[in-house]
Amino acid sequence: MKTVCCSILGFGAIGQGVAQALLMKKEYLKSIGLEVKVVAVVDSKGATVNPQGVDLADCLSRKKKNGTVALENITGVEMIRSVNHELVIETTPTDIKTGGPGLQNMFAAFETGKDVITSNKGPLTLKYRELLETAKAAGSKFRFEATVGGSMPIINLANEVLAGNRIISIKGILNGTCNYILTRMLEERASYTDILAESLELGIAETDPTYDVEGIDTACKLVILANAIFGLDVTYKDVEVTGITKITPEALEMAYERGHVIKLIGEVSREKIQVAPRLVPIKHPLAVGGTLNVASVYTELAGEITVTGKGAGPIETASAILSDLISIYGKN
Ligand SMILES: NC(=O)c1ccc[n+]([C@@H]2O[C@H](COP(=O)([O-])OP(=O)(O)OC[C@H]3O[C@@H](n4cnc5c(N)ncnc54)[C@H](OP(=O)(O)O)[C@@H]3O)[C@@H](O)[C@H]2O)c1
Repeated sequence: MKTVCCSILGFGAIGQGVAQALLMKKEYLKSIGLEVKVVAVVDSKGATVNPQGVDLADCLSRKKKNGTVALENITGVEMIRSVNHELVIETTPTDIKTGGPGLQNMFAAFETGKDVITSNKGPLTLKYRELLETAKAAGSKFRFEATVGGSMPIINLANEVLAGNRIISIKGILNGTCNYILTRMLEERASYTDILAESLELGIAETDPTYDVEGIDTACKLVILANAIFGLDVTYKDVEVTGITKITPEALEMAYERGHVIKLIGEVSREKIQVAPRLVPIKHPLAVGGTLNVASVYTELAGEITVTGKGAGPIETASAILSDLISIYGKN
């Protein structure tokens, strides 16, 4: 049995989803020879640390009851530097301007020889190359399937499952909020503003929806795909971005009458990285509705492969984190 000692940094929706998934999958992990021991859980107020393994069920119930897991006043970086473990699961908020706490956490993890699995787009959008080189120099593993498409496999699909193929381009819907808004605008013949209000009420859109509706979130995901799959060295400024705020119900209806839906499509190849509303034929594999994500990978040998799935959600995103964890440690 291999014991993997890890920490969870960020204990919001995704951090808690990871804790739940680890509890749910404890026996399964044992059956493949893995015991995952969480030695620290950190949120914005501090940490719970126990080198023998923290009680995850207790962390979840204390977080619910008290709003924090903090028993010690210690930051993520301090915990990474002082507590002996091999894997940092990084799920703090995405900040594409500075990289946020995630960037410091990831560098501290690599500097102390730890592996990193993350759902946090910010550090990868800003400093992918530097993070990758720091990880390589330290002999650390760095995996981030959960940063693009939530549960939907895309990075590992292109880099591992489709190994041997040259990936020509990837096109898809990588933001569930925009997809929901466009789907509902067409269904209800309603304005962008009305459906945005509905999405806020349902908790589908963030209080500040700018990143989603202006196409910025999709652009960040394309930057990650461009760097991780196409081997490019790009940042957000290299992406042409148009969002969905100017789309009218009339435009959606007119497109529909002619057999098309309008979708916010992200497209990445070696030549072009672009986010823009596009006409998609109603029966095309990219024409998925609601909050779903979808991606078509155009390959040299395998042709076109399309995957679709939930782009967000605690357990769904934890599924991608768990698969990264098993990829790193499950085969040793
Ligand atoms: N939600 C999704 O479905 C989804 C899907 C894919 C990827 N992601 C990405 O996954 C990450 C986490 O998302 P989320 O939805 O879980 O966000 P969230 O609910 O806002 O949780 C963020 C967590 O990070 C903690 N945090 C903030 N600053 C910190 C710091 N300096 N040190 C340690 N912890 C800190 C917060 O602490 P407090 O609890 O004390 O506030 C909170 O526990 C984000 O980068 C997001 O973009 C999310």
